[in-house]
Amino acid sequence: MSAVPLEVVEDIASRQAALHQPPPAPAQEPDPQDLPVRPHVHISLNVRGLSQSSTLAINERSARLERQGRKVFRMGLGQSPFPVPPTVVEALKANAQQKDYLPVRGLDALREAVAAYHHRAQGIERSADDVLIGPGSKELLFILQLCFYGDLLVPSPSWVSYAPQAAIAGRQHRWIDTRRADGWRLTPAALDAVCREDPDRPRILILNYPSNPLGVTYSADQLQALARVARRYGLVVLSDEIYGEVHHQGRHASIARWYPEGTIISGGLSKWAGAGGWRLGTFTFPPQLRGVLDAMAVVASESYTSVSAPIQHAAITAFSGGPDMADYLARSRRVLRQIGPAIAARLRAAGCDLDDPEGGFYLFPDLSAFRERLAARGIHDARLLCERLLEDTGVALLPGSDFGRAPSELSLRLAYVNFDGARALEGAAALADDAVADPGFLAEHCADSMAGIERMARWLETL
Ligand SMILES: Cc1ncc(COP(=O)(O)O)c(C=O)c1O
Repeated sequence: MSAVPLEVVEDIASRQAALHQPPPAPAQEPDPQDLPVRPHVHISLNVRGLSQSSTLAINERSARLERQGRKVFRMGLGQSPFPVPPTVVEALKANAQQKDYLPVRGLDALREAVAAYHHRAQGIERSADDVLIGPGSKELLFILQLCFYGDLLVPSPSWVSYAPQAAIAGRQHRWIDTRRADGWRLTPAALDAVCREDPDRPRILILNYPSNPLGVTYSADQLQALARVARRYGLVVLSDEIYGEVHHQGRHASIARWYPEGTIISGGLSKWAGAGGWRLGTFTFPPQLRGVLDAMAVVASESYTSVSAPIQHAAITAFSGGPDMADYLARSRRVLRQIGPAIAARLRAAGCDLDDPEGGFYLFPDLSAFRERLAARGIHDARLLCERLLEDTGVALLPGSDFGRAPSELSLRLAYVNFDGARALEGAAALADDAVADPGFLAEHCADSMAGIERMARWLETL
């Protein structure tokens, strides 16, 4: 047996000794206070930097001021002031025991009622298979953005959530500019100019009328002209008609009448049945776009499953119409016809540029005429203008920049529905159908809104 060289023995011995050494002392633990704070590290790039929907933010800010004892005229958030129609509430009570998950696309009877409603209201032929029910049209709009392949076109100004939804879904959107001279409406020429750049590109246009934030709508002629452009380029039109039934004259027309093959109609209970918190929205597709509906139903099945069962059962009553619903809507429109034009007139008298509203709950005054006087007070953009107005007059509004306008443009969105809708509906029963700006009605039912507008008008007049 040959001897092991001494240096090898020593090496083995030293390695064995090393194995039994205590591990080296760890480097000193960093003090948590010294660690860099990286709050965004776990947040998707699509969501980073987005803030909460501005309509909700202004509501919370107004509530904070009120808790401090300040008088706030809440004209930022535009939810329906009217109670849910009693027959619909009764239907909800009668269905409280409905407990099963419902089909992803919605209850058959509800989808049939929605299809029948479109036929009654607009003469559009659709079947239950063309309808998708969701937890609010907002969620359906979001799922559409996830599913749709193509460019998204949005007129500016438009409702606050279309653009952030696009960002969250990881898609680009393109604003199409509009002009005050056209009542801020999308023109066929502007739409054509965008589509002509690349005629075959798949695109979807979101068109909302009566409009939030504008309060205006499109005439039949204007819709037909837009429909011709849409057909020329094979656009899909998402027609957001959530305010259709609160067209102040009850004369809402859908672009689907003239472009049935490419129009998806978006609607729901939130605005005309006073049931925003019930969360029920509807999309009605042309058979040509069944593939989009099917794709959305897959996403729905993997996310919210189905809309609450009692709400769907109750919604059948709302969509089925009848004399009670007709009376409720007629009175709602009568109230809106009183207050909207009265507020517009007072703001015009103070120097604002705006038209009378045609539908919905909103006005979009342009305060460009005050630019120099506001600049002398250090106010150069609409956001700061809103902050000062809230601070000085208690009137809470939203800047036009939240709706896609340039930050420096002095446009504002005003919601005139901060009154007691239940009382106003009762009062409207006594109003003649053609009554305009009835001082007694306004003083009795809309005093708070009128007082806020008076404060705002005086603030502007004394700039
Ligand atoms: C223009 C417009 N579209 C869609 C919605 C979403 O309504 P909902 O999700 O309640 O159906 C709103 C709500 O404010 C809106 O103003």
